[in-house]
Amino acid sequence: MENTVQNKLNAIKEGAIRDFNKAQDSTELYNFKVQYLGKSGALTEAMKLMANLPKEEKPLFGKLVNEVKAELETLYSEVENKIKNQEINAQMSHQKLDLSFSVASPAKGNEHPIFRVTNEIVSIMSRLGYSLRTGPLIEKDYYNFEALNIPPNHPARDMQDTFFVDDTHVLRTHTSPIQIHSLENEKPPLRIIGTGSVFRCDSDISHLPNFHQIEGMCVDEKVSMADLKGTISFFVKEFFGPQLQTRFRPSFFPFTEPSAEVDCSCPICKGKGTNCSLCKQTGWIEIGGCGLINPKVFEFAKVEYPKWQGFAFGFGIERMAIIKYGVDDIRHFPKNDVRFLNQF
Ligand code: DAH
Repeated sequence: MENTVQNKLNAIKEGAIRDFNKAQDSTELYNFKVQYLGKSGALTEAMKLMANLPKEEKPLFGKLVNEVKAELETLYSEVENKIKNQEINAQMSHQKLDLSFSVASPAKGNEHPIFRVTNEIVSIMSRLGYSLRTGPLIEKDYYNFEALNIPPNHPARDMQDTFFVDDTHVLRTHTSPIQIHSLENEKPPLRIIGTGSVFRCDSDISHLPNFHQIEGMCVDEKVSMADLKGTISFFVKEFFGPQLQTRFRPSFFPFTEPSAEVDCSCPICKGKGTNCSLCKQTGWIEIGGCGLINPKVFEFAKVEYPKWQGFAFGFGIERMAIIKYGVDDIRHFPKNDVRFLNQF
């Protein structure tokens, strides 16, 4: 093989050995590596000389280049290890670590109690085949009232003090409009649960202008008050505990007929009522309303009645949280004071 080619290869090798060994730190060493072994480094350049060699010498030259490359790569990792160790030792000698120094552990976040209760309710109902729906917070008057059989100027509107956005839109006053969206867009049989924020122009120790509700609706071919009672009683026992009783009181809602209010026995005084401020000494606490879906609602949503029938219910989530956790004032929930939230 031509001496010049071989000499050139040797020169590269020796240069690299010398430079690798004299590198002062890992950056300098890396720069040398690029210079000799990089994509456009000296060794790659040397490969180009192969083009001028006679055919029979080409394999030998290729082999030589590869040997040099392997040798230099081994040397590089040895030197690199040595330099890195030196660097770590140098760093440790002037940076002292005090392993006994105690650091406050980072504050842990957790779910807001309202979300926790919501998720728990959704999970109980999903075991009965109910699946989750949502709806807009700003509703057309039609969905919030009219299609739920609450006509304009009807006294039933007074039950819900409303925030009006404009002449035809309101901040939804309850989650019941989710029923109408589902009836309009889906085909029965239906088992849905709707949750979210609702708004009413109301604020005192037991009312918030923005609170949360959970809505349930079941539509099928034969649905009775017995199905409704069975479902709600199951739900209450799952949520509050098996010792709790449920009671249904006749009531009125324009979108259900017959309608009922649901009470559960007070978990604090166990239904006895003696000196209990939570249930105001009655032994019972109201959690929401329910009933069989009024045929008028089916008519608005264009669902064939009596082929399809149904029941619905709506509960206040803050109220359920108050009962479950024994909270004394509903206004704690939106304050987000961590001293309160940390208790859950
Ligand atoms: N939407 C009612 C309210 O906010 C609660 C309610 C009552 C919902 C009866 C229902 C129901 O689905 O059937 O006062």
